[in-house]
Amino acid sequence: MTHPLPRIALLATGGTIAGLADDAADLIGYRAAQLGIAALLARMPALDGLATLVAEDIAAIDSKDATPAFWQAVGQRVQAAVDDPAIDAVVLTHGTDTLEETAWYLDLTVQTRKPVVLTGAMRPASATLSDGPQNLTDAVRVAADPRAAGRGVLAVMNARILAARRVAKQHTSSLDAFGLRDDAIGAVYDGAIRWRDPLPRMAAPVSPFSVRTPLAAVDIVVGYAGCSTAPIDALVAEGVAGLVWAGTGNGAVPTTVAARLRAATDAGVVVVRASRGGRGTVTRCAPDDDQPFLHSGDLDPGKSRVLLMLALGAGEAAAALQGRFDAVATPRVTP
Ligand code: SIN
Repeated sequence: MTHPLPRIALLATGGTIAGLADDAADLIGYRAAQLGIAALLARMPALDGLATLVAEDIAAIDSKDATPAFWQAVGQRVQAAVDDPAIDAVVLTHGTDTLEETAWYLDLTVQTRKPVVLTGAMRPASATLSDGPQNLTDAVRVAADPRAAGRGVLAVMNARILAARRVAKQHTSSLDAFGLRDDAIGAVYDGAIRWRDPLPRMAAPVSPFSVRTPLAAVDIVVGYAGCSTAPIDALVAEGVAGLVWAGTGNGAVPTTVAARLRAATDAGVVVVRASRGGRGTVTRCAPDDDQPFLHSGDLDPGKSRVLLMLALGAGEAAAALQGRFDAVATPRVTP
């Protein structure tokens, strides 16, 4: 008996995977988001044996131009796709620059156990050896794998499978720009998918948010030796609802900054301490948490921002916010 191929909604948003340069050797001076998904698929080996693709262009942007409104529009389209009983999974092509933010937003908001997999490319479609076709093929393979269900939103780049909470672009140009080997929850080798054994089922956080949840204004301020406090005051004057402090080390707050962040909290702004270091967990520690600041756990500043935007947008009470970070920022292992 033959099984029908999975039906996958392939939603394209632009990025380098759809980028073109005038010269195949040009890996930098290209224009992102030039090819529609049909043209992109026409340039690569057919994926017919892996899945039945229902392809659609839903945006055509360089992902540096992504906005919260873009996340919501993409999220609503992804939610509609997974709600369609005829669709088994979603693959989203996306620019690599902000892929991690969109992936995390979708992880927090799209309600589904169906696989949702993001991918992109570090080299444009016009490059002699573009990574786009391989990444897209691998992403379709992962989305078509029933074992991908219930793991939350995934990213597939350079043969690695990464959970949305872990995916982060860490190199400006390498094909291996995303995540480190230990971050991967699986890999695609020679057309086969190897999930890590024992399976860490990093399921989507049990999230009260949806793709309709409003997003509050939250900005990130970065710490460094001798940093100015002017951005904090300016953002508070602008009316932000929250600030993520991307501090050094364990989200450390210099004395001069602490006074201004304290003034921000007095003005009703929620402050979360995260770390610009990119790895490790930001824990509660004195004296920073003698101030009324939250700490981000294992979420980096960008992901902390997305969570705070949703939590404040949903009207969560200030007293519940650290609990929300604690619940979401700790990887969930379920049987
Ligand atoms: C983008 O993020 O859209 C451009 C860069 C890339 O996709 O690698």
